[in-house]
Amino acid sequence: MAEVTMTVNGKSVSGTIEGRTLLADFLRTDLRLTGTHIGCDTSQCGACLVHVNGMAVKSCTMFAAEADGAEVVTIEGMANADGSLGVIQQAFQDHHGLQCGFCTPGMVMSAAALLKENPKPTEAEVREYLEGNICRCTGYHNIVKAILAASGQDVVLAAE
Ligand code: FES
Ligand code: FES
Repeated sequence: MAEVTMTVNGKSVSGTIEGRTLLADFLRTDLRLTGTHIGCDTSQCGACLVHVNGMAVKSCTMFAAEADGAEVVTIEGMANADGSLGVIQQAFQDHHGLQCGFCTPGMVMSAAALLKENPKPTEAEVREYLEGNICRCTGYHNIVKAILAASGQDVVLAAE
């Protein structure tokens, strides 16, 4: 067992973990931040995506111990200070970028990482960036629209 301390959504947190504890499990089980989802055991779905020191990371691929001292942001940290939906979350709602919602936390975190490094992505760039996130419901079109809208761009897709 080991002690781990990190900043999650702006708050310092600590816990006692096993060496094999994944960051995804630490967030969900120890911190009860269940917005981070686990949708596979093959590191493919992206539902567990969070930001660690500003980088998009699949939290099922990282040990919690590796995040010791890190700044972590989860979907719970994406709302505005008053609790209202953040810009990307609101765009997903406005453009019907979700159905069951299981993939949505990872999609929003992925979109945030994309827009940070590329504030005005093309449709193709959005689709390429989302290759690590699987959605079983939407067919992706409305997710792409939502991300383009969150970037302040026209939301007409090439295929429409
Ligand atoms: S749960 Fe992490 S990629 Fe699927
Ligand atoms: S909205 Fe259901 S998996 Fe994406």
